[in-house]
Amino acid sequence: MCSAIADPARTENDGTSLLDRIVTEPVRVVETRADREIALFGSEHRAIAGAVPRRRAEFGTVRWCARAALDELGIAAVPILPGERGAPIWPDGVVGAMTHCTGYRAAALARASDVAALGVDAEPNEPLPAGVLGIVASAEEAEALATLPRRGIAWDRVLFSAKESVYKAWFPLARRWLGFEDAVVAVHPDGCFTAAVDPRLAVGVSPDRYDGRWFAGSELVVTAVTVPT
Ligand SMILES: CC(C)(COP(=O)(O)OP(=O)(O)OC[C@H]1O[C@@H](n2cnc3c(N)ncnc32)[C@H](O)[C@@H]1OP(=O)(O)O)[C@@H](O)C(=O)NCCC(=O)NCCS
Repeated sequence: MCSAIADPARTENDGTSLLDRIVTEPVRVVETRADREIALFGSEHRAIAGAVPRRRAEFGTVRWCARAALDELGIAAVPILPGERGAPIWPDGVVGAMTHCTGYRAAALARASDVAALGVDAEPNEPLPAGVLGIVASAEEAEALATLPRRGIAWDRVLFSAKESVYKAWFPLARRWLGFEDAVVAVHPDGCFTAAVDPRLAVGVSPDRYDGRWFAGSELVVTAVTVPT
């Protein structure tokens, strides 16, 4: 069981960023609620060529976050291109994850000597669309959510986000697909969650157990997974 850094029911209006509530040193988090102007590298321009303006905005702004986080790590700006299955390609010696949803973009980065992998995800604090919980959760996972205290938290969305964070941490290590049915996630009301991946799928250095944290603000749910070295 992990220990929560902050009370997950605390209001988000105290100036603390959302992910900073659930991710600590040595991970560097940069997030923004507004889109930012950024000079993309040529290769990044080519990667996003033809995309609709909304996608260009989130692609650029989340890279603005990532470059700021790189700067905090003392690492110069480099192109951050989508690689295998969309996973971002980080500079040597860096691990990280990015997320964007309406009104929010964030990147979390760390030195690979400190952290093996990171996953972060942001979602609206709203119930999943009808039918989605049955796709992303087993009957047992869904039943467990139903026992959690209400408190204005969309628990199904927390579970979904937790699985997205697990996937973002899993993929760079395992380099293989992980389906929603391949990990059993237990969300705890104290701000923590655990994920148990089918051990038959855990290859190489990818662990089959992940400890994560979540926070639910009035508008957004964020989750994070940090895999220790
Ligand atoms: C890839 C995925 C996790 C992205 O999550 P999302 O909520 O749709 O979108 P987010 O905005 O939070 O994250 C998008 C970012 O994730 C990152 N990402 C995409 N594919 C990735 C991968 N294979 N591995 C790690 N990170 C990845 C990218 O940085 C991307 O931003 P970019 O395209 O601007 O570079 C999701 O679309 C997906 O494919 N999920 C299915 C797999 C899954 O979740 N399994 C659950 C296992 S328990």
